[in-house]
Amino acid sequence: MRAAVVRTFGGPEAVEVVETGLPEPGPRQVRIKVAAATLNPADAGVREGFLGDAGKQIGFGWDVAGTVDATGVATAWSVGDEVVALDPGVARPVRTHAEYVVVDTDAVATAPTTVDAVHAATLPLNALTAVQALDLLELEEGQSLLVTGAAGAVGGFAVQLAAHRGVSVTALAREGDEEFVRSLGAAHFTSGAVSAGSIDAVLDAAVLGETALEWVRDGGSYVGVRPGGEPASVRGVRTASIAVSADGARLAELAALVDEGVLTLRVAETYPLEEAAKAHARLAEGGVRGRLVLVP
Ligand SMILES: NC(=O)c1ccc[n+]([C@@H]2O[C@H](COP(=O)([O-])OP(=O)(O)OC[C@H]3O[C@@H](n4cnc5c(N)ncnc54)[C@H](OP(=O)(O)O)[C@@H]3O)[C@@H](O)[C@H]2O)c1
Repeated sequence: MRAAVVRTFGGPEAVEVVETGLPEPGPRQVRIKVAAATLNPADAGVREGFLGDAGKQIGFGWDVAGTVDATGVATAWSVGDEVVALDPGVARPVRTHAEYVVVDTDAVATAPTTVDAVHAATLPLNALTAVQALDLLELEEGQSLLVTGAAGAVGGFAVQLAAHRGVSVTALAREGDEEFVRSLGAAHFTSGAVSAGSIDAVLDAAVLGETALEWVRDGGSYVGVRPGGEPASVRGVRTASIAVSADGARLAELAALVDEGVLTLRVAETYPLEEAAKAHARLAEGGVRGRLVLVP
């Protein structure tokens, strides 16, 4: 089978599509025939050596939508099930940017039924990150949340999920994104200026760090998206960072929210797997709204 991998870290030209062995599922694992897999900013990091293992073949891809094609022992999934899954970020020779991928059963959920696989593939990584980050903030209905990078994948899901819970959301995004983030449920919009100490919590998907921390009221909360990279606590503000974890049960809840129309899935462009390097180059150009999706 074919898979997109990196063997020598570098720019988009470092992405290779190679012939590689078909992975076999072990106990409590399934093999998924990939229908679609998204390209995320973290894949650019992998290409540049973020997961380490220089000189080895390292696969790309966190998200997958596809069909269960083989099962190991002790799985509740059956061949033919239409699923989505998060393949967590560890250096492995093959990940979801491939024709087939093996994932743990605990990472798998039934795919949303109202969207195609290309759209479904955009759900796992960024919706799980958004919901797990919101969990860390422990917000109650009526409290205020500022989401930075609100027009991005993590930020967009965070705006929708928080607004759905009755949180009053301020979206921080580029000026041209105001209409879009308001359509996600943001009650307020800013492209930069926020009063110090004016907000209960910040979900900092644009990685503004200490600048965003200043906007949180004394005793509020801040969550960042760089694992371990959150600013130190000041004024009693709890600071934390999210490291997304695979959670099939939670992913199933998110898929249900897609089918209920609460979560919107956004696709910018699709590329054949063979053209993975082109997709990396497009991501590196910036300004992409919605996800780039690879189709084997
Ligand atoms: N820790 C984890 O487990 C985890 C999981 C998933 C993602 N992440 C991280 O979360 C971050 C967001 O990911 P993503 O996929 O949502 O990225 P994305 O889709 O590229 O979204 C980022 C958004 O932030 C905007 N932005 C950046 N700086 C801004 C600023 N100063 N003012 C206004 N808007 C600004 C970007 O606009 P432009 O495109 O115009 O710059 C873009 O719309 C990334 O750093 C990613 O690596 C972490």
